Amino acid sequence: VSPEFQSMLDAHELLSKFYHHLLVNTKDGQHALEYLLKRGFTRESIDKFQIGYSLNSWDFVYKFLTKREFSPELMEKAGLIIKRERDGTYFDRFRDRIMFPIFDRNGNCIAFSGRSLGAEEPKYLNSPETAIFNKSKILYNFHLAKPSIRKLQQAVLFEGFADVIAADKSGVENGIATMGTSLTEEHITLIRQNTQSITICFDSDKAGIEAAYRAGNMLMDAGCTIKVAMMSDGLDPDEYIKKNGPEKFRNEVIGASHTWMAFKFLYFRRGKNLQIEGERLAYIETILKEISKLTKAVEKDHYLRQLASEFSISLDALQQQLKQIFFTEK
Ligand code: GTP
Ligand code: MN
Ligand code: MN
Ligand code: MN
Ligand code: MN
Repeated sequence: VSPEFQSMLDAHELLSKFYHHLLVNTKDGQHALEYLLKRGFTRESIDKFQIGYSLNSWDFVYKFLTKREFSPELMEKAGLIIKRERDGTYFDRFRDRIMFPIFDRNGNCIAFSGRSLGAEEPKYLNSPETAIFNKSKILYNFHLAKPSIRKLQQAVLFEGFADVIAADKSGVENGIATMGTSLTEEHITLIRQNTQSITICFDSDKAGIEAAYRAGNMLMDAGCTIKVAMMSDGLDPDEYIKKNGPEKFRNEVIGASHTWMAFKFLYFRRGKNLQIEGERLAYIETILKEISKLTKAVEKDHYLRQLASEFSISLDALQQQLKQIFFTEK
């Protein structure tokens, strides 16, 4: 490890501890702590995830770090402060935000994501890409979740930090999330080194369902076994847990996840009126194409029967059409 690299890590470690201290022990952080507690974060989670608060100041971090002999140039490269074009002075990147430290797989703090307390945009402000932080390789909470992922041979993929933390509090400790970006091949490689079985538990709104479909296809292509957990009323996992409690989340959401194929049955019917003949036939055709991609005969048969019974079509007709798809697609 080069001295520059080490210095960036040291600054992050020091700052994460100080942000946490500001949140839990000081009057300046009190409103932020109240915000978190009101949202349902527990004191235990706040400690476990080392959540913090960045002061409403333009130069607190700058002074804090330079006083401790960190070089401003390097701290700018680390993404903690920003240089003003005008006069070359520096100001703090994160101001008046809830601070979520981001750790690498060894537990080193390498970046932050700061959530605004009000309606201020952006809602989440991330550290930029730096020598120590590469978004496309980092999964939030991977370092804490890894033992549980390996033991259960199952990872749960969430959309947001709050979801990972709320799930953890509910006894689901194998949760990870991307940094607000889409899943990359590098993320998948990292997961695959520990388990091949993944439950996708994204927000149950339109954007979340679309993202689940994309992530699911990528994971399928990588040879993973996938399930998709969904919540009622377009909620996200954090909101669901706050409303319905941890047990329902474990049993009726995670425990009742859909198989990948069952998810696709639901995915392709969204926004369609299956009472209308044309839409119904198009839907059946789409599902048949999906069934034709299955490799296991038993699975094929299972989903064909499901389709036959739901739409009162003979199994024979479906099987014939499946053969046609097989010959035209190959
Ligand atoms: P809360 O409102 O705090 O519960 O956040 P959320 O996780 O429910 O947010 P949302 O579902 O809108 O987004 C999911 C994830 O996308 C977040 O956890 C962030 O990682 C990321 N994200 C959301 N908004 C922004 C943003 O404004 N900027 C960036 N860079 N990332 C964002
Ligand atoms: Mn603490
Ligand atoms: Mn969302
Ligand atoms: Mn959300
Ligand atoms: Mn949320």
